[in-house]
Amino acid sequence: METASTVDAARAAVAAARRAGRTIGFVPTMGALHAGHVSLIEAATARGDFVVVSIYVNPTQFGPREDFSKYPRPIEADAAACEKAGVDLLFTPATEAIYPAGDQTRVRPGRLAETLCGPFRPGHFEGVCTVVARLFNIVQPDAAYFGQKDAQQLAIIRRMTTDLRLPIEIVACPTTRERDGLAMSSRNAYLSPENRQRSLCLYRALCAGRDALAAGERATGRIIARMQGLIAASGNIQIDYLSMVDPETLERIEEPAGRRVLIAGAIRLGSTRLIDNVIAGPFDGSSA
Ligand code: PAJ
Repeated sequence: METASTVDAARAAVAAARRAGRTIGFVPTMGALHAGHVSLIEAATARGDFVVVSIYVNPTQFGPREDFSKYPRPIEADAAACEKAGVDLLFTPATEAIYPAGDQTRVRPGRLAETLCGPFRPGHFEGVCTVVARLFNIVQPDAAYFGQKDAQQLAIIRRMTTDLRLPIEIVACPTTRERDGLAMSSRNAYLSPENRQRSLCLYRALCAGRDALAAGERATGRIIARMQGLIAASGNIQIDYLSMVDPETLERIEEPAGRRVLIAGAIRLGSTRLIDNVIAGPFDGSSA
């Protein structure tokens, strides 16, 4: 596995792979890698790409009271996991590789960033778009792999890629879960044993919503109320939102009959914020 931390070094490694006739697959991450990240890497290796993984904890996507400074950074374990998964190039950019001196340009998403997590994390998706656009320009991949776990991020990145006319295929990968259903996340490490147990209520509520739709319930308000009840039964948990939206436009769905529905939620357990989602509907009855 090659490594690079500068723009020039990353571009040189990618250029050499291109000259050797390889397509370039890119998996951007913030590290603290788990099986969810590895599933994205495997999707890229399965297509025979020259696989580039970036690890960069991007300051501009964290709010002032969020966990930027305490975000886990186990770089040696991450490098070993990348090597084991067959990554060709590990790109760990130094800050000035992403934000050069005097930097002042931002990529601002539109309406897609105003719903779901948007109101709870002002500026977050602008930070995500800004860093992903820069990483895309450095790596210039043919395909980039993103997790369905972050469904709003995926929709926003797809929109940005279309709008900025970037010649990159965005590949969505299903959510990897713990055996008991909890969606894997680098932030799960923050949970106390008691909150780890209570965290399951989110996925259970989302599944209950999907089951209700599958059983023919059409009143989305009633379904969401039932989901809220399931979470309330797990104790003092703050619900940021529980929503049923269109997976591409993220607009609220009032009439779910015959439609694909993204059921998404965010909760707070102590100071830890967890998000998760499932997709229901005629084209995909499985959990995403
Ligand atoms: P991070 O949270 O490290 O996630 C990197 C990628 O892994 C994202 O595409 C995310 O959706 C995916 N992922 C995380 N948990 C997953 C799971 N349980 N199953 C499947 N995929 C999962 O998302 C970010 O970093 C950042 O916002 C980034 C895009 C790197 C920009 O800084």
